[in-house]
Amino acid sequence: MDRETGQLLSAEKFGTRVNWASHYDLDSGRPVLTPGADYPTEPFMVYPIGVGSHNWHPMSFSPKTGLVYIPGQHIGGELSTEANFKMEENVWNTGVETSLPLHNQQLNSTLGKAFVNGFLLAWNPLTQQKAWQVSRPYIGNGGVLSTAGQLVFQGTIDGFFTAYDAQSGTEMFRFEAGNGIVGSPISYAVNDTQFVSVPVARGGGISLISGSDLKPASANGRILAFSLNGAAALPSSKQVDVFDAKPPARLTADDAVLERGLQLYHRYCNRCHGSGVVSDGSIADLRYLNAAWHDNFEEVVLNGMMVAAGMPRFDQVLDSEGVFAIQAYVIDQAHQAYAMREGNSLWLAIKQTFYDLLAWCLLTLDELAQ
Ligand code: HEC
Repeated sequence: MDRETGQLLSAEKFGTRVNWASHYDLDSGRPVLTPGADYPTEPFMVYPIGVGSHNWHPMSFSPKTGLVYIPGQHIGGELSTEANFKMEENVWNTGVETSLPLHNQQLNSTLGKAFVNGFLLAWNPLTQQKAWQVSRPYIGNGGVLSTAGQLVFQGTIDGFFTAYDAQSGTEMFRFEAGNGIVGSPISYAVNDTQFVSVPVARGGGISLISGSDLKPASANGRILAFSLNGAAALPSSKQVDVFDAKPPARLTADDAVLERGLQLYHRYCNRCHGSGVVSDGSIADLRYLNAAWHDNFEEVVLNGMMVAAGMPRFDQVLDSEGVFAIQAYVIDQAHQAYAMREGNSLWLAIKQTFYDLLAWCLLTLDELAQ
């Protein structure tokens, strides 16, 4: 926009795929919707889904290169109007159904990797074109800093702090931070030393809900600061040790109950504990609950045993049967995660080859359908 008059000057698509509108009408300042995108009667596969091609993570402009640096992401999802919508107090309820993950965790993770990813985009606002782009394997990466020294810094949700040449996009620096980064770097000088610092920790809506199979990491954050002649070693942080935990016995093998558990879980729990019961580690990953939590599952979920720690109670919308279904689904997912860690590796590899092929076919079909 023109900063003095507010007149709209440019509104080009910068996302990997944007299908809800064909373009912005520069005179009215309104998007021109694609027919069906409003999903009033039919479901619509919308790109990007609600979290957007760019969310809150700050972007940056460099007057030196004239480029804008955008922490972007690519994720679509099917939206439809919820049948028989009834307002429920205090829980997520928007009247919109979204597509759910499948029971099969290995397949979910494979499809997630194929269809959902992030990027760091250098965009030329004058030509309204991409200058360069770096791919990220996951969505929800950190904010961006561009410096007078012509570097662009960004942390990633999978635990790297990176820097690129602002003009060319060539990678100049990569540091393994030991935990995900969703915050933004800053730069400052003390005496004659220039520092770049960044908060290191997961958390925040996208990171919590995304269900990306990141390595479990400490819920505690820390701040790292870098300088050209810095020599400190990174102190180790407390890691969440989950991999010994053997899940309790399955509660049921009844598919109808597990399916109900999946639906209720994604209605009431996934925003904090992660889609497909895959958490980012900043709130408990329910696949790794120990026996004491499973014994008190209903107490926690219905009766508010953990309210003081930020875990809401759900007795206004759930009953014992619903909680049982959720717990059965959670334990089922825990078994799948356990099998993926400890199971027969040849069998897992065979399945993986098949799933990779399936993901490739679906991606190809999806591209052909464009
Ligand atoms: C608004 C966010 C939020 C939602 C929604 C939510 N939880 Fe939690 N849950 C938490 C937090 C925070 C904790 C406490 C984590 C901690 O410090 O141990 C927690 C803890 C738990 C625990 C105890 C394990 C532990 O380590 O504390 C269970 C079991 C649990 N949640 C199940 C559920 C189920 C099932 C649902 C859906 C019906 C759900 N939660 C929805 C935030 C949430």
